Amino acid sequence: MDPIIIAIDGYSSCGKSTLAKALAKELGYVYMDTGAMYRAVSLYIIRHNIPINDLKPKEIKEILNQIDIQFVWMDDKGISETFLNGENVEKEIRGKEVSEKVSEVAQIKTIRERMVELQRKAGLHKGLVMDGRDIGTTVFPNAELKIFMTADPEIRAQRRYKELISKGEEISLDEVKDNIRSRDYNDTHRKENPLVKADDAIVLDNSDMNHEEQLNYVLEALEGI
Ligand code: DC
Repeated sequence: MDPIIIAIDGYSSCGKSTLAKALAKELGYVYMDTGAMYRAVSLYIIRHNIPINDLKPKEIKEILNQIDIQFVWMDDKGISETFLNGENVEKEIRGKEVSEKVSEVAQIKTIRERMVELQRKAGLHKGLVMDGRDIGTTVFPNAELKIFMTADPEIRAQRRYKELISKGEEISLDEVKDNIRSRDYNDTHRKENPLVKADDAIVLDNSDMNHEEQLNYVLEALEGI
């Protein structure tokens, strides 16, 4: 089968990136985490105290020109990590501060336009698994396979809470629930490229599925293409 583009969209903390990484490994594809891009931009804005909502598109473009985001393959870990202007920021972009800022940043049209442009470039040669919120609808509306992931919000919060605690983050389950609730709201209600299921996407509710079952589900769907 010729290489294709697999677009995975869905709610926060649904396990999109876990599934996307497993798929990319299985198929020998490149994996791109678009959430990490919005997170890296958010980190830059936080660090430089930029009043992003008060800026004009031209000023935002100038700031974006100062931001270089790369995904660098880490041989020792067998995964790619996110670099912002040459610095490995993988851990920092997953923390509470960035998680609380990112929805606001991801609503800004000028920022989304630049991210979409970069994401489309990554798909030029296909053989790509990309996850996010607007991949099947805006970035690659012609993607050969589109998955829309969802899971019970309570289960998502529990999973995310465990993940953050295991990374040493100090956070309560209630804070995680609030963050997921507000990100779901912002993702689905924002004006620019909100999270919606593409008409031709396959829905994957993984509330009661393990990783292997999810991977097999998508591999079976691939056979039908
Ligand atoms: O997938 P994630 O939770 O790391 O994404 C972080 C935030 O970025 C999330 O709140 C929504 C936003 N996002 C987006 O708006 N569009 C994307 N393609 C990916 C993420």
